[in-house]
Amino acid sequence: MLIRTPTPHDPLPSEITPRSAYLNRRQALAGLGVAAASPLALAQGAAPGGGKLPKLPGARSAVAGAFATDKPTSYADATSYNNFYEFGTDKSDPAANAHTLKTRPWTVSVEGECAKPGRFDLDALLKLAPMEERLYRLRCVEGWSMVIPWTGYSLAELIKQAQPTSKAKYVEFTSLADKAQMPGVRSGVLDWPYIEGLRIDEAMHPLAMLVFGMYGEVLPNQNGAPLRLAVPWKYGFKSAKSIVKIRFVEKEPLSSWTKAAQQEYGFYSNVNPNVSHPRWSQASERRIGEDGLFAKKRPTLLFNGYEPQVGQLYAGMDLKKNY
Ligand code: MTE
Repeated sequence: MLIRTPTPHDPLPSEITPRSAYLNRRQALAGLGVAAASPLALAQGAAPGGGKLPKLPGARSAVAGAFATDKPTSYADATSYNNFYEFGTDKSDPAANAHTLKTRPWTVSVEGECAKPGRFDLDALLKLAPMEERLYRLRCVEGWSMVIPWTGYSLAELIKQAQPTSKAKYVEFTSLADKAQMPGVRSGVLDWPYIEGLRIDEAMHPLAMLVFGMYGEVLPNQNGAPLRLAVPWKYGFKSAKSIVKIRFVEKEPLSSWTKAAQQEYGFYSNVNPNVSHPRWSQASERRIGEDGLFAKKRPTLLFNGYEPQVGQLYAGMDLKKNY
């Protein structure tokens, strides 16, 4: 994001997966009577997850806006074109390197301005609320996007358990930073650990999701196992991966990217086609897996298309100032 200006030479997943193979897969699915856009079908194993990880199905979410009508990105693309700087800065690095991440045992420390702080074991978190499946668009600040069927539940479920006090105006998320497991943490590419934050009302919005799985299976390491955020109306970097700490705080947290380059990455980072990144426009996006280099870009939508659900969170705010 900051370190390397994206080059036109990054291999596109669509260049790796021949279009014919991709189309064959879709035809095979159609033959099975499976609607490729049905995430529930994905969870039921009718469409490809990787098939190597344990299943993690979820019930169809009733949260408004939880189902994008876009075609889901293929599992192969979603798991091979990643940003997870703890494992390297190339898009292919996380898939190549993240096998060293040990995702069990795993605990998440819930701290700060709340009546019920504590350490939650992963198994407790998996049982905290019923698993749901949702299909979210993910728009990266770099100008590409994907559509991913996640499994998890609203972050609000965990927040409610912690009972934040009236001083809890923000929530800060910290990712694991372990040099032994994460080769990228030995580099100075970011000030580790990776930190992100949300305003408390953003964090409580039902679309803000605590994610444990994708495509009906547990998260692959490169996608942020064993748990991460998915905040679909914000640029992808707000969705911290491999979270170990959730802290309720009074002051706006300083996120890793804001710390690295304040002019480029603000606290809010809501997807906004009208506010350019200082080095590139945000008006359009390239959908990963959708044909090759010459494919037409899609227009980027305000709040990534989730304006009906989240627009009121920002009523009266100057979105150019609060980028
Ligand atoms: N979380 C951590 N801990 N480290 C990272 O480098 N990258 C972010 C976000 N979460 C990142 C992270 C960025 S820039 C994006 S676009 C998304 O993860 C990518 O998620 P995906 O690889 O599952 O598509």
